[in-house]
Amino acid sequence: MACSCGNESAIFKELDQFIEENNCADESSLIKVLHRAQHLFGYLPRNVQIHVAEKLNVSVAKVYGVISFYSYFTDTPRGENVIQVCIGTGCFVKGADKVVESFEKELNIKSGETTEDMKFTLSGVRCVGACGLAPVVIINEKVFGHVQSQDVKQILEDYLVESAVAS
Ligand code: FES
Repeated sequence: MACSCGNESAIFKELDQFIEENNCADESSLIKVLHRAQHLFGYLPRNVQIHVAEKLNVSVAKVYGVISFYSYFTDTPRGENVIQVCIGTGCFVKGADKVVESFEKELNIKSGETTEDMKFTLSGVRCVGACGLAPVVIINEKVFGHVQSQDVKQILEDYLVESAVAS
């Protein structure tokens, strides 16, 4: 979840504590620290990137380079539910593009965007290693196999019901 609690300094403190406890003093710990920072803040905004750069004594450009290289990291807020549609070759030939289109239409966003209510983020990922289940969709930790564009509406409705029950 993105940090919306208004208690950013407490989160920075927690991050600093992690850096100290794990002796993350230089560039070799960059991925580990960014991983933790994203877990704490929900994403990696500019001020977090600068903070990490200062703490590990690396340039902000280096930090940004790592964030943009790994699709796991993001510098924009993500929604409550992250939908990842595999667009690797195996899934693509089985119609992943139609599945992406269907999610875009249902959510009224483009791939890479988050809905205004922060409920869903949609993104494409490279092969997730489950080509036998193509086309594959992962929502948070849950894997959906053989997804067809006509399944998308139902999948989203199930998630909305689930999150309404949980809240
Ligand atoms: S291409 Fe989608 S799981 Fe491999």
